[in-house]
Amino acid sequence: MSIVSKSDWDFLYSRQYNDVVWDNPKMINPTMDWLVGKGYLEKSCMTIMDYGGGTGKISDFIHRKYGHDVLLTDWSDAPLKFARENFPKLSVMQTSCPYDVKGKTFDLIVCLNVLTYLPPMVQIKFIKEFADLLNDKGKILISGLDKENEFLKKYPELTQDKTFINNLKQGIENIGLKIKDTDRYMAFNSMYEMDIAFRSFTIEKS
Ligand SMILES: C[S@@+](CC[C@H](N)C(=O)[O-])C[C@H]1O[C@@H](n2cnc3c(N)ncnc32)[C@H](O)[C@@H]1O
Repeated sequence: MSIVSKSDWDFLYSRQYNDVVWDNPKMINPTMDWLVGKGYLEKSCMTIMDYGGGTGKISDFIHRKYGHDVLLTDWSDAPLKFARENFPKLSVMQTSCPYDVKGKTFDLIVCLNVLTYLPPMVQIKFIKEFADLLNDKGKILISGLDKENEFLKKYPELTQDKTFINNLKQGIENIGLKIKDTDRYMAFNSMYEMDIAFRSFTIEKS
């Protein structure tokens, strides 16, 4: 089901958290600045799911800055242990499928830098499940490595990311959802010591 296995994710997390690429402040701070800049968090009393949110640093930031209820989900054991120990105000759930949270609904679902690591058909399946978990006027905000990425030109072995945008656009429209906007943001990859670009999509039910 996944290109990167659960044990590999746990392995990737098995070091000091700031050394984990996407948990490094140079990656996570620009991501949070961009998320704030989108303006979607400004309403009061929102319910939010941070799907594949890892250690919960982004979830915790959203909760502290805006006071929203945030459900952090992830697949791996290690980051959730970190979240439970460090961010007791977050709801935390271990899951590998969005429908596992059934019974709950959300105003905003963020899924940042996760779908890239799943096969295209699973990406679309997850987005459809996200859509079913949305409240009226809810939004889904997803991101992944940008196709036009200098980083990918330098590391062509990461080819699974090159089809990310086209597959998503097509698949999203095929299941009757609407892309409200696309956007791009840059963050610093501490492992390769270079800025990398992310492409994001905001999705709404049509
Ligand atoms: C690159 S990290 C991104 C973490 C966080 N969203 C961020 O942007 O900082 C990808 C995360 O997706 C999680 N993940 C991968 N496949 C998943 C699945 N099927 N269900 C839930 N989480 C998954 C991994 O465990 C990992 O924490």
